[in-house]
Formats: sequence, C-alpha cells, structure tokens
Amino acid sequence: MKILVVGGGGREHAIIKKLKENPAVNTVYALPGNGGMSNDAICVDIGAKDIDRIVAFAVEQQVDYAVVAPDDPLVLGCVDALEEKGIPCFGPRANAAIIEGSKVFSKNLMKKYNIPTAAYEVFEDCDAALAYLETAPIPTVIKADGLALGKGVIIAETREDAKQAVISMMRDGQFGKSGSRVVIEEFLTGPEVSVLAFTDGKTVAPMVSSMDHKRAGDNDAGLNTGGMGTVAPNPYYTDDVAAVCMETIFLPTIAAMNAEGRTFKGCLYFGLMLTPNGPKVIEYNCRFGDPETQVVLPLLESDLLTVMQAVTNGTLADTPVVFKKQHACCVIMASNGYPQAYDKGFALHIPAEIADTVYVAGAAIKDGQLVTAGGRVLGATAVAESLPAAIDGAYALVKQIRFDNAYYRKDIGQKALKA
Ligand code: AMP
Ligand code: GLY
Repeated sequence: MKILVVGGGGREHAIIKKLKENPAVNTVYALPGNGGMSNDAICVDIGAKDIDRIVAFAVEQQVDYAVVAPDDPLVLGCVDALEEKGIPCFGPRANAAIIEGSKVFSKNLMKKYNIPTAAYEVFEDCDAALAYLETAPIPTVIKADGLALGKGVIIAETREDAKQAVISMMRDGQFGKSGSRVVIEEFLTGPEVSVLAFTDGKTVAPMVSSMDHKRAGDNDAGLNTGGMGTVAPNPYYTDDVAAVCMETIFLPTIAAMNAEGRTFKGCLYFGLMLTPNGPKVIEYNCRFGDPETQVVLPLLESDLLTVMQAVTNGTLADTPVVFKKQHACCVIMASNGYPQAYDKGFALHIPAEIADTVYVAGAAIKDGQLVTAGGRVLGATAVAESLPAAIDGAYALVKQIRFDNAYYRKDIGQKALKA
C-alpha cells in the first residue's frame, strides 16, 4: 500500500512509524516531512498548506490512503479535496475542522449543547472588548478566534495586560484575520488533561490520556511553546473522571457536530481542565496533538492503519482500539532560544540503535549530514512498566543525542509523579 501523510513534524514521524508496523504498508510519502524522517518516509517538497499540489501528487502517485495531520490543511479543506478525487482519507472535512479553526464556533457549540466549558463573551469590536474588560473578573483569558500557531491564547493576570492583549489582537492585527474576533473567557483552574479520541462520527474511542508541558522552562516557567514534553497516561485522569468525560463531553460533542450537519471523522483532541466543578473543555483540536502523539501512539497495541480505516469507513464500533497498560514519556529537545529566536544548521547525531523511538520534528539533510532545522528539533520517547522508569528511559535517550545549543526541560513527568 502507498500512504501519503501530510505534515512534517514529530507528530507525523510518530504516525508514520506506527503505520509502518503494518506489513501491508510499503511506501509512505511525507509532504513535506523533514530530513530526520527520511529513513521512514519519502519526503516530498510540497508544503502542508499547498492543497492543489498535495492533491495532484496523490493522484499522480495513485496513493491508497491519505492521513492529513496538521490543523491548517484540515481547516483549508485538504480532506475534502482528496476525497473529491476518490482518495480515502483520515481527518475531518473542513466543515468539521472548524471545531478547531474557530474558537467562536466551538464556544457557541458548547453553549448550545450544554457541554461544560469556561463562561465567555465574544467580541468583534475592539472598543466593546475594552469596555467589557473594565469590570471583567481578573485573571481573564483572551483567545484569538482563528488559528494562531498555538500563540493565540493569553492568560492576563492584570486588567492592563488583558487590554494590551485585546489591542494587539484586534487593533494591531498581531494574528491577522485570526484575531479580528476574540473570545474573552473565565479563568479556570485544575489539572489539565489531553484526550485524543478516534471517532467515525458514531463511535468514540478515546486513546490513553496524556499530559503536555507547554511552558519553555522547568516548573512551568517561561513562555508558552508548542509543547516541551508529555507523559501518558495522565494520572489525574482516573476511570471515574473518564466516565464523566464520556458522558458529559465526548458523546455530546459528537452528537452536537452531527446535529449541526458537521459530522466529525478523524482524531478529535479534547483539551480538558479538571476543575473543582468537574471536567471542562479548554479547547478542541481537530487533529492529533503534538507532542501528545509521541507518547500515545507508542502505547497503541492495535494496528493504527486498521483503526484509521475503520474511522474512514464508519466501522469503528466493530474495531478494537486497545492500549498497552504501560507508561510513556517524551522529552522534546529544542534549539536554545526557542520559542523565540534560535540558531539552526547544527550537526545532529542520533545513534542508530535508538532511532526507533526518536521522532524528528525539525531537521534537514545538508551535504549528506543531518542538521537541525527548527525550534523543536526532536522528541525522545521511552515506554516502560512505570512512570518513573519511562521518565528515566526518555532522559537516557536524550543523553545519547547530540547537537550544539540543545535545550530541554529537566522536569518532564515530575508533576505527574506528584499527582
Ligand atoms: P491553547 O493554546 O488553546 O492550548 O491554550 C494554552 C493554554 O492556556 C492551555 O493549555 C491552558 O493552560 C491555558 N488556558 C486556556 N484557556 C484557559 C482558561 N479558560 N482558564 C485557564 N487556563 C486556560
Ligand atoms: N500539544 C498541544 C497541541 O497539539 O495543540
């Protein structure tokens, strides 16, 4: 089988490695992929947002199946365009990907269908938003409506910071059109849990839960990043909590999307906060999380391609989705300076013996040598019988990987250990 994977980060590398465990998969194309995954996939220099060229390539190569992993192409209708050419796909169509593409849409959906989330107001006018902030409870949370590379959420600790955030989004156009509407919402507290779920629009099969570490520095200090490490399962997500989430959040969300004529098929990511008043939705993503995927898929016992095809065909109810009863930890190695300015182009050494559990996000091949090419360079994942052993294993991998200016958090998993 020939499979095409749209995207080029660590998440895509983890998806590709898992797909290749199925012996029927003989060719995987990654568009664009990155130099660090060239042993696992044929990387083709077509950008993940270049829908026309993606479709042309898929038709020309007669691929049997396509997995569209990142948010941008999903929101732009990549799945719709591939399906029009008769190519079966994993991922939601554009009309369902809007659950991530517009925070206003997702907040209104939750309100309409009584799905627990933070109280909120929507503003299309900067002055109205500023007036509201005069009396809004502080801290408050300001969210750009559209996609903003994971940077569109500001937790404002003071009224002044809140106003500044609104002004940069709405008046100064910090995120372009994505910030022309904003959501201002209630600040919630409690442990955060990421739950990715396969769904074919009828059945929901949650994957093992996970915990992201979004801040750049140890003890959650510093700037927000795309994610500096993950562990799975998340110890806060007990069976009881899972049952409540299924009843009050997962099933109602699938039903709500169906009722809106926007059936969601693919991986739906629930970003949850376990508040003193029960689990609430912080955000939906229309895709696998990064770096959640790098701990969740290594724990998947079932065949990934089989599960994905069941999602596409609407037969998920008849397809077992089983996870190993083990623990995983992924530590992200980044270029020093990330998420702000950083240097790249440093030689990257990953010993061949550990390459199986290293997911490369930002690397390129230059003059036959692997070099760093991004802020987040790679994630090293270990699977073990206990969380402490998984953490130790991941850090042991990190110690064997070398590139200049490497930076990583030293405390991935510590919060989970204390839970
Ligand atoms: P996002 O970029 O949407 O993943 O949000 C970034 C982070 O902001 C989340 O992981 C939460 O830690 C935090 N956050 C978002 N919304 C809220 C909220 N209503 N209350 C408290 N924290 C929030
Ligand atoms: N790790 C957070 C995300 O994928 O959005």
